[in-house]
Amino acid sequence: MLLKQLVLINFRNFSEKKIDLNPSLTLIIGKNSLGKTNILEGIYFFVNGLGFREIKEEELLSFGKDEAIVEGVLAINENEDLLSAIKMSLIDHRISKKFFINKTEKKHSQYFDYQVRTILFSPEQINIIIGSPQLRRDYFDKIISVFDLEYKKKLINYQAALRRRNKVLELRIPVDKLREELKFWDEYLIEQGSYLTKKRQAYIDFLNSNQDLDSKKFSIVYQKNEITELRLKESFPEAVRFRKTLIGPQKDDFQIFITSTGKKNVHHFGSRSEQRLAVFWLKINEIKYLEKYFKKKPIILLDDIFSELDQNNQKIIVPLISRYQTVATTTEESVIGLIKTSKSVIKL
Ligand SMILES: Nc1ncnc2c1ncn2[C@@H]1O[C@H](COP(=O)(O)OP(=O)(O)OP(=O)(O)O)[C@@H](O)[C@H]1O
Ligand SMILES: [Mg+2]
Repeated sequence: MLLKQLVLINFRNFSEKKIDLNPSLTLIIGKNSLGKTNILEGIYFFVNGLGFREIKEEELLSFGKDEAIVEGVLAINENEDLLSAIKMSLIDHRISKKFFINKTEKKHSQYFDYQVRTILFSPEQINIIIGSPQLRRDYFDKIISVFDLEYKKKLINYQAALRRRNKVLELRIPVDKLREELKFWDEYLIEQGSYLTKKRQAYIDFLNSNQDLDSKKFSIVYQKNEITELRLKESFPEAVRFRKTLIGPQKDDFQIFITSTGKKNVHHFGSRSEQRLAVFWLKINEIKYLEKYFKKKPIILLDDIFSELDQNNQKIIVPLISRYQTVATTTEESVIGLIKTSKSVIKL
């Protein structure tokens, strides 16, 4: 499936922008702040129904506007196109989104079934490696949720139930009564939480079965914090003292190791370029996962990553461009010469 055309109306800084995409590479070139990343976000939104930078959805609407439309043409095969669109409106300070396939309204999940998939590479993703465990959990949750709606549901349930359990822990009531009050939440959290642990483990196993990247090898350790009856019981006195649930997958972490001469923890000891490679390792495995289990070929979105690529990393990224439809942004004209595949250049 290929994305042939995209139209952004009142999306971020574009009041109206039409983009024709190359089946191979579309290179978006422009000085800072002209809207390169916004175009990639437009594609991402068109596919996924959400952007990748907003804190509130209304940030995606152009300043002062209350309606945005993102529509596009997907080629299913040589003779058949699919017209899809998302209309986003701000009504009474709330965003409502409508999804259309060939002008017929669909549910978000139905719309997504028709869609191509996207894999985004951006410089900020280095935070998966150097940032807090929360960022790593968010990263894996997002990936698994896209493939597994049950996971998404259980994650939301788990987070809501955890807040409720912590509220109970804040009650100033006798310990016996507290135990009684927690019983329901404990069972519920174990049920939802163990599913999260199992699925996170499965994805980590998949990563560990695909360790090679170029001449390097990566591996990942899942530092799981399981929620079980026994562990809840053992941590109960401390939970009472801190008035908080102290165990469970909300405390999970993941640590990546690189093996070249020896094995070392990339988060603590990796050079910046090794850390960047670790991100590529994760991202390239996202593509493999998508292709292996879902038989879908993604569109690759490369946001401003050429400026950071040394020759080694180019060896990893450039072949991707020849295998997948790619949309890349850059401020540097010299990138045009760097990639030999057929391409379209859009100058902003
Ligand atoms: N909702 C919005 N409405 C209007 N303009 C917006 C909105 N959100 C962001 N912008 C503006 O859009 C402009 C382009 O942003 P974008 O991040 O796409 O730039 P860029 O070309 O990727 O720049 P850089 O090279 O610095 O990465 C920025 O000036 C930004 O402030
Ligand atoms: Mg940008």
